[in-house]
Amino acid sequence: MTLTESLEQLNVLAQAMLSKSRLEHSLSVADTAAIMCQRMKLDTLTGRVIAMAHDLCKELPLTEQFALASGWDMADSQEAIMDSRLAHGPAAATMLSGRGILVQPELLEAVAWHTVGKIGMGMYAQVLYAADKLEPGRGAWRADTRAAWLSGAFDGPDGMRLLIVTLIEDNIRHLRSKGLDVAPSTLILYNSITGKNSKA
Ligand SMILES: [Fe+2]
Ligand SMILES: [Fe+2]
Repeated sequence: MTLTESLEQLNVLAQAMLSKSRLEHSLSVADTAAIMCQRMKLDTLTGRVIAMAHDLCKELPLTEQFALASGWDMADSQEAIMDSRLAHGPAAATMLSGRGILVQPELLEAVAWHTVGKIGMGMYAQVLYAADKLEPGRGAWRADTRAAWLSGAFDGPDGMRLLIVTLIEDNIRHLRSKGLDVAPSTLILYNSITGKNSKA
């Protein structure tokens, strides 16, 4: 299947499986990912494909999400996958690879880990992780980072790493302002990227 055919199938699935607001979010992530890919000289169609795939399973009942996610056969910890917030990523990767709609390991990895990211993730995984958080429909508290990104503040070879660090710092600040805990996996990713030792 070509990427164009994959995108057509994903659009059909997204219409069928997602509520209006989540469909809008997915389309907005696709636009953001395409801009990001263009700036980074990556393939914009690939950016759109992984964006339309990423939240496909988010509105399935949790039992179905877990059943699909348990088929995600990688060296990753199954325990981490069986988390109600994370399961929809590996669930979508399993469903789409099973149907032959998305088969490239690098793209499946991006879909599987889009929520919290992963140490050592590839460029498309980084694009999806960032675009999911930067799309304009997301919380207004991310507007400054989005504006900075659009104005080119994160262009250049180290830009994506800095963008992800900034997004995580925005997230930590936001959660702490509400008295909420930061997910351990977020801190592990943050510390591995920055070399810092931030604790919850
Ligand atoms: Fe998601
Ligand atoms: Fe999302």
